[in-house]
Amino acid sequence: MHAQNRPLKHPFYMNFELTEEHLAVQQAARDFAKTELLPGVIERDNTQTFPKEQIKALGELGFLGMMVDPKYGGSGMDSISYVLAMEELSKVDASASVVVSVNNSLVCWGLETFANEEQKMKYLVPLASGQVHGAFCLSEPEAGSDATSQRTTAEDKGDYYLLNGTKNWITNGNSASTYIVMAQTDVEKGHKGINAFIVTKDMEGFAVGAKEDKMGIRGSDTHSIMFTDVKVPKENRIGEDGFGFKFAMKTLAGGRIGIAAQALGIASGAYELALQYSKERKAFGTEIMNHQAIQFKLADMATEIEAARMLCLKAAWLKDNGGDYALASSIAKLYASEAAMRISTEAVQVHGGYGYVKEYHVERLMRDAKITQIYEGTSEVQRIVISRTILK
Ligand code: CAA
Repeated sequence: MHAQNRPLKHPFYMNFELTEEHLAVQQAARDFAKTELLPGVIERDNTQTFPKEQIKALGELGFLGMMVDPKYGGSGMDSISYVLAMEELSKVDASASVVVSVNNSLVCWGLETFANEEQKMKYLVPLASGQVHGAFCLSEPEAGSDATSQRTTAEDKGDYYLLNGTKNWITNGNSASTYIVMAQTDVEKGHKGINAFIVTKDMEGFAVGAKEDKMGIRGSDTHSIMFTDVKVPKENRIGEDGFGFKFAMKTLAGGRIGIAAQALGIASGAYELALQYSKERKAFGTEIMNHQAIQFKLADMATEIEAARMLCLKAAWLKDNGGDYALASSIAKLYASEAAMRISTEAVQVHGGYGYVKEYHVERLMRDAKITQIYEGTSEVQRIVISRTILK
């Protein structure tokens, strides 16, 4: 039975011990980050260069379809492994790790869970085996947090849908081959009239807009996408008519675990750099780690990172064990992303003037941290999800 369908008996008895497999995945991601991502990360950030070769290599190593069943080309791992890998990759390069997160959580998971067999064989297999990667197209110029207000339309024309509209801030906008697109078919039905479609880049009328010039995750390719009379075959709709909004929400609940883990990685990357620097840099006659002002900063960072890690792992554990993880993933994302912003800012402070220059990496981590409070639902959206759940 698939883990998501298992009844959860003891929701509060988490096993904190990582298995040999978990440790191996963590180590593999750590090694990859150090040898393959670190060497060019500053240059890619400066020049806004997509980490094409690195993503190809991550695909070959099975990091793009981590949780997908091997019969669909995936690695068959659990969500704990995914969190561990996301943390390690994000410590070094959040522009690469967002590709890993979007492909695993928003594209592969959605397809494996809700697509039909034919769709899985045709689209999921190449995505999960890393031959190509995908994008998730929900946000629009006037529908970011307010995701039910979709303006992109998918008119039912019998054996195809006619897709028209614009999507904004699409991660992997240009580098992807397969796009999951949410669009309004029946405006009278509100969010129950939204559908989700599998769209490919080669469809006539599909156009990629200009690349966004971003504050952070500058190596990732974020674009607007335009659809002009794109004929999407009916067999490319995911699930029943009107399932698109629920599809997006359910998919995002898992995606938020990935972004929480990304935020955790950015925070721990910044912390490790600050810790190391505090042991080397001398001021007032001693290494700065001997000053209480620095010690207290490091203590706060370590505490927040530990809390963020526990929240990420709890959400992942609930997902792996059939629990309702929507609340846990929003809590993890809210806490981890806010912690990442605080911790990376403090890491720059520990570095003083050196922290403000690119060579020391922490200023990039601070810029990258900001997006984790925005995408896959802003901090305000997470607070909506959390407050609605606890007040229900
Ligand atoms: N699982 C299943 N169904 C869910 C759900 C979930 N987790 N969350 C909501 N729903 C359902 C509700 O039950 C409701 O259905 P019914 O009417 O049948 O009861 C329906 O969806 C509408 O829900 P709400 O009434 O709660 O909708 P709302 O308009 O009040 O909005 C919201 C709720 C939480 C703010 C939502 O719109 C939201 O999550 N917005 C943020 C969107 C977002 O995260 N965008 C990120 C874009 S993707 C991205 O960033 C990727 C990237 O590039 C990295």
